[in-house]
Amino acid sequence: MKEAPNNSIQKNALVIIGVTGDLSTKKLFPAIWHGHQTGRFEKVKVVGVGRRDWSPEDFNKFAENSCQPQDPTSSTWKKFCSGLTYVKSDFINEDLSPLSKVLQDCKGIIYFLATPPEAFPILAEKLSKIKVKGFKRLVVEKPFGKDLHTAEKLNTQTKIYFKDQVYRIDHYLGKGMVRNLQTLRYSNEVFRNIWNKDNIESVNIIQSEKTGVETRTEYYDQTGAIRDMIQSHLLQLLALVAMNETSNTKNSFLLKSQTLLKLKKPDSSDVVIGQYASYEKDVGHSSTTESFASIRAFLNIPEWKDVPFYLQTGKKLDENFAKIVIKFKKTKFNPLAPANSLEIMLSPEERVKFTFNLHDHDLNTLKPFSMEYCMSCEFRPNTPTAYEKLILDALNGDKSLYASWAEIRASWKYADKLLEASKANKLFIYQNGSKGPLEQVEKLHIEA
Ligand SMILES: NC(=O)c1ccc[n+]([C@@H]2O[C@H](COP(=O)([O-])OP(=O)(O)OC[C@H]3O[C@@H](n4cnc5c(N)ncnc54)[C@H](OP(=O)(O)O)[C@@H]3O)[C@@H](O)[C@H]2O)c1
Repeated sequence: MKEAPNNSIQKNALVIIGVTGDLSTKKLFPAIWHGHQTGRFEKVKVVGVGRRDWSPEDFNKFAENSCQPQDPTSSTWKKFCSGLTYVKSDFINEDLSPLSKVLQDCKGIIYFLATPPEAFPILAEKLSKIKVKGFKRLVVEKPFGKDLHTAEKLNTQTKIYFKDQVYRIDHYLGKGMVRNLQTLRYSNEVFRNIWNKDNIESVNIIQSEKTGVETRTEYYDQTGAIRDMIQSHLLQLLALVAMNETSNTKNSFLLKSQTLLKLKKPDSSDVVIGQYASYEKDVGHSSTTESFASIRAFLNIPEWKDVPFYLQTGKKLDENFAKIVIKFKKTKFNPLAPANSLEIMLSPEERVKFTFNLHDHDLNTLKPFSMEYCMSCEFRPNTPTAYEKLILDALNGDKSLYASWAEIRASWKYADKLLEASKANKLFIYQNGSKGPLEQVEKLHIEA
């Protein structure tokens, strides 16, 4: 007798290891839920792995708290929950056979490591042993290592088991305006022609957040602002602003890493570090970890000769935003005219604003005016968010918006020098909710 055909549709799976944590709650689940509503994750089985003793109901409640669906009684939400599976496992100390069982019907698997970085090597080894029918890919969060040495070690440890299927995520690369940077520069003759030392006074890349270390005290205290933000997101942005044009992904990896390798060695006068006033109270002990860093960088590239790149990041500041500001040189023809600028806002909204000078309607007063395009305002409900876009890319085997090892290596080479340069620097304590150690930052800009 013939066997009945197996009609079960084999799905790909997204496995989040460390599903109970902060990243999964705040970023991954909202992204997956958004993708589910637009049908993009319909064929994806979502599996969460954590060490907490959660029932399926507990897991659904967790998903609800994280995704905040408008109507938790809707059929869309119920369908979403029916596709969720929780596997209890102390994945560091136990074997992963319960996870292996859950995945046996799946085709390709994405393992998203949302765990402390120390767990990455052991997880790479254990996960590689799970037999799967299709592809298996490992998504690893930033920071990739603590310095060049540990990053190199981690690169070897992950590559042994996942070869070229290691996806190093930097979610800034999934942001719409970041993906548009090259287009803005090279598809507009007006910008392409002036994107150099002759016309640009400085490049400012700033990330500011109101929150402090919150629940991530142990991680943050061992990491600090330079490793947490500058080594990854901000140096990626610097590379994208400064690199030459390419329409080829492989070239883009190469050009970004080559640009980063051209960063001049910083000295202590190029770095300002600070710590917010209640930091030690928040982490529960005395600490010299910086929660704020402002740096001045120069590139050894003729087109960028003597142009300062200011990179700044901080916690417990007065505003939430991330932006790139290109400040142009003042015109020689009218000393009263302020410099033009191009502001590329990355969050909370994605938009671009060009500021130029005109006489006011009375034709007497010279004033800056602006032209603006708000990309976020154009977002349709089905536009994928940064994490959603990157997870979908990983499912499709597209690495073009992930960081290559060459880029990570080049950025650690520079970040290590920055950390060394900042060692002897004073740690300025700044008021919670302020702009950080402003006086010292202003000095950094004036002295350039
Ligand atoms: N949070 C963010 O916004 C963010 C942004 C960018 C990158 N990242 C990176 O993403 C990763 C996760 O960060 P996170 O902030 O989500 O960390 P987290 O809140 O500390 O969560 C870590 C997860 O790993 C689990 N875990 C920790 N130690 C474990 C052990 N020994 N055995 C089994 N499970 C263990 C935790 O379980 P319990 O819940 O039971 O403790 C939790 O599920 C890190 O590599 C971080 O650098 C985070």
